[in-house]
Amino acid sequence: MGILTLSEKIYWGVFYMHRKTAVITGGGSGFGREVALQLAKKGTNLSIVDISEENGEEAVRLCKESGSDAIFIQADVSKVEDVKRYVAQTVEYFGKIDLFFNNAGISGSGVRTVECSIEEFNAIVDVNLKGVFYGLKFVISEMLKTRGGVIVNTASLGGLVGIPTLGVYSATKHAVIGLTKAIAGEYGRENIRINAIAPGTNETPMVKAYPEEAIKKMAEAVPMGRLGQPHEVANVVCFLLSEESSYIHGAVISIDGGASAL
Ligand SMILES: NC(=O)c1ccc[n+]([C@@H]2O[C@H](COP(=O)([O-])OP(=O)(O)OC[C@H]3O[C@@H](n4cnc5c(N)ncnc54)[C@H](O)[C@@H]3O)[C@@H](O)[C@H]2O)c1
Repeated sequence: MGILTLSEKIYWGVFYMHRKTAVITGGGSGFGREVALQLAKKGTNLSIVDISEENGEEAVRLCKESGSDAIFIQADVSKVEDVKRYVAQTVEYFGKIDLFFNNAGISGSGVRTVECSIEEFNAIVDVNLKGVFYGLKFVISEMLKTRGGVIVNTASLGGLVGIPTLGVYSATKHAVIGLTKAIAGEYGRENIRINAIAPGTNETPMVKAYPEEAIKKMAEAVPMGRLGQPHEVANVVCFLLSEESSYIHGAVISIDGGASAL
């Protein structure tokens, strides 16, 4: 906010406190960016957290175009000091955290599970499990100060079933669901609502990077005969982050064209 007079600080302080503030990890691309854009249109303040400066800055630009205030914080969710910093910087700028889309994640190289290298195993666990846990740890402690908040964790269809050649990814996404359910049991009475989403395969940049033949096969295996689009996931996330879903807590919502029904 630069150098402001006291009255300007009070004005902007009241302005920001009045609006809801959302933190979105992996906010620079895919689901995270879609959710950011939908929330921006509703006038939510946005803290876009991403390891990629290019992705994050572009998301901020688009959110501002939609009329919301947005900041980019470059951070690696697998590093505890980065997580503390993105929480602190958000609170410093916007004054509080109301909504948290705990979403950043990586997949894997698609080899049979025991052929996964130790380095790849550690990298996936660091981002998908430790990163999600660190986010919950430091965001929830802020939400307790303001007596409430709403959280959505990104799990996956791979958190509900085992996905051959994505065994480690699948294990971390099962863990995200475990964290979601345990925390739901712990913080519901403190007005902190938490749910997880379990998307099937969606055409985000993560998936578009797969070979074309593999994408075609994945689409054929879905009961609806197609892959999902990021906005179809974002619609559900924004619903879960809103008052419209005020009694949904500790749930895992599949968004997968019927894939988990088989
Ligand atoms: N795309 C799918 O089909 C699909 C399906 C189920 C679940 N998911 C999950 O959805 C989430 C988002 O995936 P997406 O498809 O939108 O991916 P994406 O690759 O389009 O976007 C992910 C974003 O996260 C950022 N990121 C990666 N590692 C990070 C780190 N260590 N710290 C901070 N930011 C980091 C990337 O820079 C990128 O901007 C992930 O958790 C993924 O596992 C995706």
